[in-house]
Parts: sequence; structure tokens; C-alpha cells
Amino acid sequence: MAEKKENLMDKIVSLAKRRGFVFPGSEIYGGLANSWDYGPLGVELKNNIKNLWWARFVHRRDDMVGIDAALIMNPKVWDASGHLSAGFADPLIECKKCHARFRSDQVDVKKPCENCGQKDNFTEPRQFNLMFKTFVGPAEEQANVAYFRPETAQAMFVDFKNILDTTRRQLPFGVAQVGKAFRNEITPGNFIFRTREFEQMEIEYFIPVPARDEDWKDYFEMWRKEMVVWIKDVGIDPKKVHEIEIGEGDRAHYSKRTIDFEFEYPFGQKELYGLAYRTDFDLKNHFKEPPYADSQTGEKFWPHVIEPSLGVDRTMLAVLLSAYTEDGERIFLKLPPKLAPYKAAVFPLLPNKPPLVDAARKIYDDLRKKFTIAWDDRGNIGKRYYAQDEIGTPYCITVDFDSLEKNDVTVRDRDTGKQERIPMDRLEQFLSEKI
Ligand code: GAP
Repeated sequence: MAEKKENLMDKIVSLAKRRGFVFPGSEIYGGLANSWDYGPLGVELKNNIKNLWWARFVHRRDDMVGIDAALIMNPKVWDASGHLSAGFADPLIECKKCHARFRSDQVDVKKPCENCGQKDNFTEPRQFNLMFKTFVGPAEEQANVAYFRPETAQAMFVDFKNILDTTRRQLPFGVAQVGKAFRNEITPGNFIFRTREFEQMEIEYFIPVPARDEDWKDYFEMWRKEMVVWIKDVGIDPKKVHEIEIGEGDRAHYSKRTIDFEFEYPFGQKELYGLAYRTDFDLKNHFKEPPYADSQTGEKFWPHVIEPSLGVDRTMLAVLLSAYTEDGERIFLKLPPKLAPYKAAVFPLLPNKPPLVDAARKIYDDLRKKFTIAWDDRGNIGKRYYAQDEIGTPYCITVDFDSLEKNDVTVRDRDTGKQERIPMDRLEQFLSEKI
């Protein structure tokens, strides 16, 4: 069973590279410590995931606004948030022989070193801070040390008053952000699961100071349900997702309650998303004076926060793993059509018959005004279907000799392989209804 699962991971990594979803970063120079580049299809899928999230949680709600903040913030932000302290560190051990470094909570120290096989030769664990250091400006001195943000969240807190002043929002309301985050992970790995540079989609949902526990618990429950619906909508297999209540000792330094949404990856059940009740920890650390005043009573206070935090790259990995389907000889990505990099592919049956090519080209050009559409006139139809199946294109449209007489085309469905004839002038409506 384990072998089959490992195999699935290999298949996904290989398909991702072969078809242009994800490439090893800086590959021609030997790569760089588990960094990955999103290729032509990967960037489409990733953008579709981010756009779906933004549409759902920002545009379609009237209690949300978005921001897009700088990646490098004033280092005082990280002092205040606690990220420069031991709370944001992992336990590091080192093999005394080969100097390979590991997270002590991820390896069995009683076993020989994974790298050189040496036994009983690890250093004692020490706390290794995960902040990614750099210098701002030309002088590499302590006064110019700065850090790439380890989470998008802090900008939503630091900008809280500006957002309030410019939008005149009343509680409860949320701020959303999508963007890169950086952590100097000790052991990145498992493809795009754990990298040092990754993307997050985060919401900080601000609520009044809870008078009773039920008050924050109701908002927490609202976001828990929202995350469950999102997981289904984005095409992640809900049967493989498990909600894990995180115990007090294991929660992040700012959290009073955390649920991790774990996914059954081929390499084990591990975190996909997190939902945390951050209380007023962050706003209190950033603002000496209460930043919010109740519009009715004028009472000033520090709002509390519920935070649904989603990794874009882990979403992509879970989506690909959930979509990968083998049916006999056929391999296809059963992506939700709204996420598929191409919504349809258009083929002339034969590439050397100008009337077929011209008619197909016209359909391609028309549909491209509204949808992302692929064009393929190489090889035989079977090979073209195979290629589109592997990248998850939901529909293949073929112009054949009958099309020239009857003004209709063959539309093949990715999931069933079934074909139907559809009038050319109904194609746009057909795709709009399906996607
Ligand atoms: N603001 C809260 C926060 O950052 P987190 O659990 O540390 O919480 C949130 O991270 C999400 O970001 C995770 O659930 C995961 O999806 C993603 N994530 C965290 N570290 C990651 C890494 N090294 N590589 C890829 N994704 C990561």
C-alpha cells in the first residue's frame, strides 16, 4: 500500500514536470534546496485557485476587504509579533560526522543518520529561528538587518488602522491577503509541500471582544464550515481531509484554539490548512492604544481575531493528488473545470486540410475571447486526447468533414470519454454552462 502511495507521488511530480505544471527551481544549475518554479500550466492552475479564493472570500462577501503588502516589513513588526523569539523556531539537531541537519521532531534519533549512516552521533537539539534574514540597503550591518515575512498575516494587523480609516468598516469584518511567505525551514521536502518560499491565502477576521466563550466560538465555527465548503469546491477529496484539534502545548505562540486540516498525502497525513483563534494578541502587541472604537458607544478596544490560513502550494498539491485518475490505459486529471488551465482544446481532424484548419481556427479564435483554450493539430486525435486528459482539459472540440457540411463539431468529455455533436454557434454557451 505504502509503495503504491509513494508511486502516486512520483507520478504527480513526473506529470507536473512533463506537462509544465512545476519544474525544479534553477534546474540547470543543479537546483536550490527544494525550490520549485511554476510552469505555463502551473501558473494557470495556481492563479485559478487564488482567483477562486479571492472571488469567494473577498468579492462575494460584504464583510471582507483585501490588501497586498510588502514582503519585507520593518523588523520591529517581528519583534512585536513574537516571530523573532523562541516561539517561532524548530528544534535543530546535527549529525556530528557529516553535519547534516534535521528537525529533531521529524527524525528518530535512535536510528542512524539518514545521510551518512553514523549511529548515536547527533548534537543536542537547539532552537533554530525560521525567519529569513536579509539586509536593506548597501551596508551589510546589524542596523540594516531585515526579514522576509514568514506569514502574510502581520500586514493585516499592522495596516489595521489604515484599513479602518479608509473603509469605515464595523466589526465583524475581515481582511484578506494572498502572497509569498518565507521560512528558513530546516528540512524542506516532499515536492511543493514544504518549501522555504511559498504562498499563503490568509484572512484575519476581526470580531468584538468576546463577552463569553460562545461569542468567539460561533465565529470560529462559521470559518470552520467555510473551510470545509472551500475544500470541496476547490476539488480536494474531502474523504482525505481530517480536522485535528491542536493541544495547548503544540499550538503557535499566539493561538488560544487551533484546528489543523490535515490531508492524506502519499507521504503521510500532514497539515494542509490551519484555523486559529489569535485573540487580541497581535493587535495588542502592535498598538499601544486601542485601535477600534464602537460606533454606538464610543468604547475603545482591541478587536479579537479568527484566522483561516491556507497554503496555495499545498492546495495545488492536494488538488493534483485528488484529481489524478487512472482508468485502464487512460490517465486524466479530473480537475474542477473552473480550475483547469484550459477549458477546452480545439483540433482540426487533419492538419493538412485547409478547410478543416480554417474552421477550427475560427472556433479557437472566437472561444479564446472568453476562455483559455488550447490548440493542437499534431499527431492523431488519440494522442491529442491523451495529452489534454493529462493536463485536465475538460472538453476537446474536433472539427471534421461533417462539420463543414453541418456546422457542428464533436465535443468529447474528459471524464466519461463520451462524444456529442454540438452546433458551432452553441459552443460558447455550452462552455459557459459547464464551467
Ligand atoms: N498565519 C498563520 C500561519 O502562517 P501556519 O500554520 O504556520 O500558520 C499556514 O501556516 C499555512 O501555510 C499552512 O497550513 C500551510 O498550508 C502553509 N505553509 C506553512 N509553511 C509552509 C511551507 N514551508 N511550505 C509550504 N506551505 C507552507
